[in-house]
Amino acid sequence: MTDDNGAGAGFEPPLWEQLAEQSAQLHQGVRLQKVLAATGWGSRRVCEELIAEGRVTVNGEVAILGRRVDADVDRVEVDGAPIGVRPGLVYYLLNKPAGVVTTAKDTHGRPTVVELVPSEPRVFAVGRLDADTEGLLLLTNDGDLANRIAHPSHGVEKEYLAGVSGGALSAGQLRQLRQGVELEDGITAPARVSQPEAGLLRLTLHEGRNRQVRRMCDAVGHPVTRLVRTRIGPLFDRSLVPGDWRELTAAERRLTIEAVAESARQYDSPS
Ligand code: URA
Repeated sequence: MTDDNGAGAGFEPPLWEQLAEQSAQLHQGVRLQKVLAATGWGSRRVCEELIAEGRVTVNGEVAILGRRVDADVDRVEVDGAPIGVRPGLVYYLLNKPAGVVTTAKDTHGRPTVVELVPSEPRVFAVGRLDADTEGLLLLTNDGDLANRIAHPSHGVEKEYLAGVSGGALSAGQLRQLRQGVELEDGITAPARVSQPEAGLLRLTLHEGRNRQVRRMCDAVGHPVTRLVRTRIGPLFDRSLVPGDWRELTAAERRLTIEAVAESARQYDSPS
């Protein structure tokens, strides 16, 4: 016999059980090891070990195995570094071509970086590259991570390749770039600088001042002719052609979050 809804006699209990289980899960959140695994911390087993070792906190308290979290509300950290778990966050790595501006709208009608990536959800560039600079740029709607990556004094390190005019730099000029050059907004912080070939520089900076590489090279008498950003912290991609973008992998998101936390630790700790 069928009931009034036309369903078979054995149908109702399993469906109710399913709904009850679903609503219980919704209420209690998702298992912490599942959230960690989804954000690139390794297999669920590895994530269980992280929790068992006491390296994971939820809202500042050491988490225990079996803990469930609401990714929308709870603040989850591994070794003190927040993990990016909020749903709806996107992270794009773009290879910006020359001639495209980083601002959301250009008064001169030039193309903008946000026109090169999906329009929904709306994202913004993390930091900026000059219109004539090429290379890697991160775009996201994660304001918290963006602020920490782009922090002018202790952001993650960024690497540039700069073609300069005037031929090879002398050892003294390279030393000056490494130790710090006097700019109108103050002396630059120590940087790693090498010259793979005459007139081509590889510079690794922690600071992100306006037109910093160009002004540093001007200051030693070798103006930049071409500038390409080749790395942002752990993010690099030689196969991404100018104008192309891709989403960060979960592992890249995790490495970026770790790099930001490490950088903040280095610069915030008293020397
Ligand atoms: N330094 C510069 O001079 N320009 C850029 O776009 C980025 C770093």
